Amino acid sequence: MAEPNYNFDMERVPQHIAMIMDGNGRWATERHQPRSYGHQAGVDTVRRITSECVRLGVKYLTLYTFSTENWSRPADEISALMGLVLSSLEDEIFMKNNVRFRVIGDRQRLPEAVQQKLRETEEHTAANSAMTMVVALSYSARWEITQAVKDIINEHENQAEQPSHGPLTTADITEDLISKHMQTSFMPDPDLLIRTGGELRISNYLLWQIAYSELYFCDTYWPDFNEADLHKAIESYQNRQRRFGKTEAQVEEESK
Ligand code: IPE
Ligand code: IPE
Ligand code: MG
Repeated sequence: MAEPNYNFDMERVPQHIAMIMDGNGRWATERHQPRSYGHQAGVDTVRRITSECVRLGVKYLTLYTFSTENWSRPADEISALMGLVLSSLEDEIFMKNNVRFRVIGDRQRLPEAVQQKLRETEEHTAANSAMTMVVALSYSARWEITQAVKDIINEHENQAEQPSHGPLTTADITEDLISKHMQTSFMPDPDLLIRTGGELRISNYLLWQIAYSELYFCDTYWPDFNEADLHKAIESYQNRQRRFGKTEAQVEEESK
């Protein structure tokens, strides 16, 4: 079979794509089904989009799966979601695609069985190298930033026995230090953030890390999002000029 003809440059595929997978509930409601039916369908989309990202050479795919705020949903929906996390983490998917699995978020709030499955999957896939799939579970950006600040203070206090130890000063606090204490310290910031489901908001996702990400919103509900939709998002990304505060002329000069 001939290679599909993309309208984008395979050499400039984003290294890190962050995804807000929204619209499962409305997709199910439109079909007169319970919301959990939509979440189940969403898992199939995760599989397809993961393999497509691997094929395209994306290095990091960060999936917003369950937010801190989602703990306020009805108990039956939460337990259906936790059940899906457990049942969908089959090693086969990661091994077949050579994908490393990582979790960000407040995992201590998750049921013990889920925590254990997450640990096992992270361990089993640690040596996989084609792409890293990062699942944000019980995650919110404000929680993460608050946690980072606490960690910085705790680490400093734990070093108190050392002779050179002085109080924490403003000079110690740098952007680099804060980034190192984020849950995402092992990966670069997202190049492209995609939100499906039609809402034009960030919903407490990766606030620190998306400072210079390109944003892409589409109306498609997550269960319907497919490879062609992903290609459209990448095409849109490639048609933009990332300036990072510089002028258009400066960026053009640099790219020569
Ligand atoms: C996203 O879909 C998945 C989660 C938040 C767990 P939703 O469940 O938010 O679906 P809608 O937005 O209600 O359609
Ligand atoms: C964001 O979707 C969280 C996830 C996709 C996991 P929500 O559906 O929870 O966001 P809001 O409530 O519409 O902002
Ligand atoms: Mg939603």
